[in-house]
Amino acid sequence: MVIENLQQAFVEEIVHRAIQCNAIYEDRYLLGTSLARPIIARAQVLAAEKYNCEYVSHGCTGKGNDQVRFELAYAACNPALKVIAPWRMPEFITKFQGRQDLLKYAAEKNIPVSSTPKAPWSMDDNLVHCSYEAGILEDPDHSPPKELWTRTVDPLDAPDKVYQFSVHFEHGIPVKVVTEDKQEVTESVELFKLLNKIGHDNGVGRVDIVENRFIGLKSRGCYDTPGLTIARLAHIDIEGLVMDSKVRELRDQFVTQAWSRQLYNGMYFSPEREFVEVALVASQKNVTGVVRMGVYRGSAFVLGRSSDASNLYSQEDASMDSLEGFSPEDTTGFIAIQAIRLKKYGLMKRQLGQP
Ligand code: ARG
Ligand code: SIN
Repeated sequence: MVIENLQQAFVEEIVHRAIQCNAIYEDRYLLGTSLARPIIARAQVLAAEKYNCEYVSHGCTGKGNDQVRFELAYAACNPALKVIAPWRMPEFITKFQGRQDLLKYAAEKNIPVSSTPKAPWSMDDNLVHCSYEAGILEDPDHSPPKELWTRTVDPLDAPDKVYQFSVHFEHGIPVKVVTEDKQEVTESVELFKLLNKIGHDNGVGRVDIVENRFIGLKSRGCYDTPGLTIARLAHIDIEGLVMDSKVRELRDQFVTQAWSRQLYNGMYFSPEREFVEVALVASQKNVTGVVRMGVYRGSAFVLGRSSDASNLYSQEDASMDSLEGFSPEDTTGFIAIQAIRLKKYGLMKRQLGQP
């Protein structure tokens, strides 16, 4: 057995990119499982090479995303390795139709597993999140029971008091967190763990969705993602202050969507992911500054932000109390030109009697 701590590689190679591009799938899933797979698969391949193995294996079912992610990563990291996927082997599936059969077998043989009659769902836990799927959650209208969530306290049980802290960014990467009770952390993994703890204690980061899997099935998942939920919000906020508007628009349209989809579909070790990341890193050149935040009973919010690294925002320019360096007459022309096309369109619709 090989047990390796991959947390630093996970945070610095993948989680930081996810934060920099505000990664998200179908508007809500922060990709906690998808993000971890490339790092696990790569380490598995390295271990296989070290011990001269011909095969690598995984325990994913034949219906999910993870089988695709692991196997595409194995293929890219070492095309010569062969894969054993028991859930897709005839000799296995004649014995075990699904999770229930396997759980029964585990009970018979006294094999300890985390899924029990009291917690009848599948979990995937890593530094970023814990996911809950299958079992009683397969009914999308069955609310997740209170005891399901392992990474966040119930928002209603969280302290009745706002907890404040600040997140410091350099080039879109969180480099320091300072809390109201004077904790200060700069090391990448410790920093992420502190955000997880803040989120945990205040019930931040729960999501319950029905998503579209890569293989075409819909599936219901509950995700507990405390630290990344906070980091993502802080990052989006500092970008508002320091990022050029057109760079942001292009990044949102092309990079965020593409990178998130690539990670979801198991395409991490692909030329398109490398290509998109070049643009991502370039977009973060000026994303440096501090976001002051609060958390309270399930929500995280921004209390203020500042940056020395950019002068794109100017209080003077934006002020409604000053006309320094700005001629209001110019805006009349700006609007008139923008209106040319809309006037033509409006006129055409009137002529055709369209609403
Ligand atoms: N549906 C999520 C995803 O595809 C979570 C998968 C959880 N995986 C697991 N083996 N329990 O990323
Ligand atoms: C699995 O199928 O093993 C877990 C769920 C998924 O991969 O989507």
